[in-house]
Formats: sequence, C-alpha cells, structure tokens
Amino acid sequence: MLRLSTCSSLRYFYLLLAVTLLQTSGNFRVMSSVVALGAHVICSRIPGLTARQRDMCRQAPDAMVAVGDGVKLGVMECQEQFRNRRWNCSAIGSGNVFGHVVVVGSREAAFTYAVSSAGVAFAVTAACSRGNISACGCDPSHKARKELAPSGWKWGGCSADVGYGMRFARRFLDAREIEGDTRSLMNLHNNKAGRKAVKVSLLTECKCHGVSGSCTMKTCWKTLPPFRKIGDNLMRKYSRARPVVALSGGGRRVGKKLHLMLKKPPPRGQQPPTPLRAPRRSDLVYLEESPNYCERDLSTGSLGTVGRQCNRTSKGTDGCDLMCCGRGYNTHQYTRTWQCHCKFHWCCYVNCDTCSERTEEYTCK
Ligand SMILES: *[C@@H]1O[C@H](CO)[C@@H](O)[C@H](O)[C@H]1NC(C)=O
Ligand SMILES: *[C@@H]1O[C@H](CO)[C@@H](O)[C@H](O)[C@H]1NC(C)=O
Ligand SMILES: *[C@@H]1O[C@H](CO)[C@@H](O)[C@H](O)[C@H]1NC(C)=O
Repeated sequence: MLRLSTCSSLRYFYLLLAVTLLQTSGNFRVMSSVVALGAHVICSRIPGLTARQRDMCRQAPDAMVAVGDGVKLGVMECQEQFRNRRWNCSAIGSGNVFGHVVVVGSREAAFTYAVSSAGVAFAVTAACSRGNISACGCDPSHKARKELAPSGWKWGGCSADVGYGMRFARRFLDAREIEGDTRSLMNLHNNKAGRKAVKVSLLTECKCHGVSGSCTMKTCWKTLPPFRKIGDNLMRKYSRARPVVALSGGGRRVGKKLHLMLKKPPPRGQQPPTPLRAPRRSDLVYLEESPNYCERDLSTGSLGTVGRQCNRTSKGTDGCDLMCCGRGYNTHQYTRTWQCHCKFHWCCYVNCDTCSERTEEYTCK
C-alpha cells in the first residue's frame, strides 16, 4: 500500500512541477539571474524532482527556466484545445484537484503528457536559438551540411536545434517514469510522440540575396512554427489515439520486459486472428477508456459539467445536448452594452452612442 502511494506521487510529480513553476514563475525568473549563485539551493527547493532531475537542474539551471516555460505552454495549449469539451484540461494547473486528471490512463492523460513534453522540447529549443541557454545555440548540423543543399541555396542563419530540445525534454521528463510498469510505458510513449510532433513541425525559412532581390542566392534555416500548429497536430493524434496493452515477451521479442502492443481489433465476423503489432511511435496511446466526464468523480479525474457554459444551437461538443449530458440547461438573460456609432469630431473628441442588446447565456444543470 505504501509502495503504491509512493509510486503515484512520483508519477504525478512533473505535473506538480508544472504547478510549482506556474505558481512561482515570477520568482523563478528573478531567480534565474542569480542562478549562478543559487542553482544548488533552487534545484533542491523544487519539490518532487528525482535525483537525476536535480542533477540536470544543477548542471543547466538556465534550461530550467525554459522547462518551466514549456510546461506552461503545454498547459495553456491543452486548455485552449479543450475549452469546448467536457474535459477541458482545467484541473491541470489548478492546485487541489491536480493529479486526479491523469489518474486514469486515458486518452486525455495521453494528450496531457504529449503536449507537456512537446512544450518542454519546444521551449528549450526556442531558448537555445535566443541564446538563453549556455549549453546550446543554433543547430550545428545545418552548417556542416552546406554542400548537401541543392544548388542555388545554402543553409545559413540560425537553425533551431530541435535535437537539443528533444534530448533535454527526454532526459528531464522521462527521468520521472521509473516504475517500469504499464502506466510508465504509456507515459514514455506519449512523451516521445509529443517530442516527435515538435520535430516534424519544423519549417524552412529562406531569405533571398542578389541584385535587387533577384534571388540568385538563397539562405535557408530551420525554424519553429507557432506552438498552436503542434497543438493542432497533437489534437488530431488525440482523436486517433490507439488503445494498447502491455505484454512481456510476445511478438518477436524475448525476455520479460514489458512493452506496449496495440489491442486486438474487436472480432468482426470470421476475420483470421491478426498478430499483435506495436503502436507507431508518433501515435498517442492509452490503456483505459475515458470516463464520460458528465458527473463529478475525482477518482477518475472528472470534474463534471454542472455549471459549464454551452451553446444552445451548436451540434458540436460545446452544444448544450452533448455538454450537459442530457440533463438540460439553465438560461440566463442579461443585457450586453457597448460603445457604438463612434464619431470623431475635429478637433479633438470622439462621440459615441451606447448600444445594448438582450442576450442569453446557457449553463448546464
Ligand atoms: C532570455 O529570455 C528572456 C525572455 O524569456 C529575454 O527577455 C532575454 O532577452 C533573453 N536573453 C537573451 C540573451 O536572449
Ligand atoms: C472547465 O471545467 C470546469 C468544471 O467542469 C469549470 O469549473 C471551468 O470553469 C472550466 N473552464 C473553462 C475555461 O471553461
Ligand atoms: C453557437 O453555435 C453556433 C453554431 O455552431 C455558432 O454560429 C455561434 O457563433 C455559437 N455561439 C457562441 C456564443 O459561441
């Protein structure tokens, strides 16, 4: 029993770290300037770090600021992507209910891990390009490969060193998954899928040189897209997430080590049995079906939808039918007022009318 609770508290530590960093992000920034003096102290103050993470923190305290930024980026993206859904990612990043959200090895947990790991890889890479981390900078491999570029252009400028960002995110976040059980395997897989989503998102930007922009010569470099692009991509992966089981041995592998395999598709007619396959590395995977998130049940990470705003006319996930799980909704009428028909008078004042409109808002019963 004791072991169990220790394990689960370890499991949630990086989300705890997220909250810690979110809540102290102000201090954290200030601290980063005195990092040289105080890395030892700061790194021992962040709760829940494993010994390896504490070492990484001491070795690269400037990267820890980027880790904090990255986790925050991930949480904000999660909340934006899910704002119109029953599960809206809000429990992540709010102190008390935190952790409950990912108790179940669901698709939502898969997304949470992937988007946080993507956030960290992204923020560390971006900080490298800005020169904010002493151990990294621009991607050196895009300088060395000059001659590989097709004629007419060459690599130049500062290419994002996504390799460094991904390695840092892997070493830092994966260091938490030390249980070696089924759920750790799921988390590790989704962490990796998140990092890969950053890698495939890189864009190539170019600049023309030559007489009056004739573009006889181009310089190109790799750059990060807005994080939203990566969030959108992970959202598509979320909707296609694959159920998995953990097996030891099996397939062509030997030994007792656990690994994840796609769950057999449900038998349809007389299909011959298909051998189990490993999930693709870029896929999100989950172990358990999600609760429907209609009722409040913290043991499954469901906050319920009572009181949530819904859209009466929408047929989507924000529509009152789906959002309120058939319980119905309350209608609140109110008057919205705003400034309108503004006219500019010479010189110098603006005259506006006040417009108003009766409007309604709907919340789930
Ligand atoms: C480091 O990052 C901060 C913001 O995150 C920025 O204000 C600062 O200019 C950066 N430093 C360098 C050297 O780029
Ligand atoms: C998310 O859902 C919870 C409970 O269901 C609610 O309290 C919160 O306000 C919601 N957040 C947003 C941004 O709608
Ligand atoms: C509600 O949904 C409809 C149809 O999807 C949409 O046109 C409308 O803008 C939505 N209203 C609000 C307040 O989001």
